[in-house]
Amino acid sequence: MNKRDNPYTPGAGRKPRTLAGRDPDLEQFQDLVERLNSGSYERSLIYTGLRGVGKTVLLMELDVLASEAGWATTDVQEVGSQADFRVSFARMSVRLLTNMSSRHRARERIQRALSVVKAFSLAVPGPVELRIDVDAATGVADSGDPEHDLTDLLGELGEVAQANNMGALFLIDEMQNLDGPSLAAICIAFQSVSRRSLPVSLVGAGLPDLRVRLLSAKPYADRLFSYRELGRLSTVDARSALVGPSAAFGVDFEPRVVEQVIAEAAGYPYFLQEFGLELWNYADESPINEDDLRAIRGVVNDTLASSFFGTRFEMATDTEQQVLSAMASLGLGPYKIGDVATAFGASDQRAISAYRESLIQKDLIWSPRRGLVEFTVPLFDDYLRDNHPIE
Ligand SMILES: Nc1ncnc2c1ncn2[C@@H]1O[C@H](COP(=O)(O)OP(=O)(O)OP(=O)(O)O)[C@@H](O)[C@H]1O
Ligand SMILES: [Mg+2]
Repeated sequence: MNKRDNPYTPGAGRKPRTLAGRDPDLEQFQDLVERLNSGSYERSLIYTGLRGVGKTVLLMELDVLASEAGWATTDVQEVGSQADFRVSFARMSVRLLTNMSSRHRARERIQRALSVVKAFSLAVPGPVELRIDVDAATGVADSGDPEHDLTDLLGELGEVAQANNMGALFLIDEMQNLDGPSLAAICIAFQSVSRRSLPVSLVGAGLPDLRVRLLSAKPYADRLFSYRELGRLSTVDARSALVGPSAAFGVDFEPRVVEQVIAEAAGYPYFLQEFGLELWNYADESPINEDDLRAIRGVVNDTLASSFFGTRFEMATDTEQQVLSAMASLGLGPYKIGDVATAFGASDQRAISAYRESLIQKDLIWSPRRGLVEFTVPLFDDYLRDNHPIE
């Protein structure tokens, strides 16, 4: 097969040719758009899942749907790199308004909204560069209180969107990076737009602990958002993720190869793409067969070990790496923190609590419940047992 035509897309945020298993999500989102368009209310959406399950590409697809429906969107924005989350919201708001002004003539109203964004940004400590040429509004979104100001800002955006018969969509990726007060402000502001039935919505994505973080920021967050966890694909969906991209080029797989790849990739989208990529590059002819799979298995495992697992493992300090290996030595997660401490060789769990915290900060592990930890990277335990067994 011609390498140049390779239809597989392993990586981060690379749109797959076949977006497998997401039809229910696309439909749910279409419903949301329709409901907000008709002036009713629908809960914003939060997607959670481990690394590589397809959160970012799903957000990208929802971006397309929203734009097709005539909505203004922020494009998918990763948050967390700014010291203050309001900087991200100010920038996203400018995008939304620019987006609206390219489609509508309500120039003055949009200018006024931009002056509110400006006021919002001036209330953030430190300089925020927005590159908008308007004077700041006074008395709206400029109190310096994030909860209050974000509520004003979203209200303003919602009014402009409503006046233009369109919706405004925030697409926020890596949302688990936001701290408690930021998440609380987001909850309060979206609660307010929902109460006013304004057509402003949020689709957020993050690691599995995002849900717990939202709940601890605001207990009503469980009713404010609709949550969906992305995980492994079902066998049927995994099959279409693997077979679909090649089929478009008239290339098939032997059924046994499909079953084996799905099993070895454990149904995870990113792993399926890596297998697909190497099989396509290696195979001489259709159907792709078991000899091809035997030939590329080592290459796939090496790629995963060095790029997907290895780079993450390297993010941890030497001692943190030993904590990770201690977790893996216990078998399948989630892991009791006391058991991890024992496997690590510590006398009690307090001895590893600082490492636990820093590994959570680095997004390598998360805590599904008090006293438990789990990896954020799928199949990380296998990788660690094979490559970094505990000393
Ligand atoms: N539904 C799907 N069907 C087929 N392939 C998919 C699907 N979703 C994602 N992929 C592929 O999986 C890989 C990971 O996707 P993506 O970057 O969206 O994951 P993610 O959940 O955002 O990961 P991370 O947490 O690391 O940001 C990409 O190579 C993408 O092409
Ligand atoms: Mg992502």
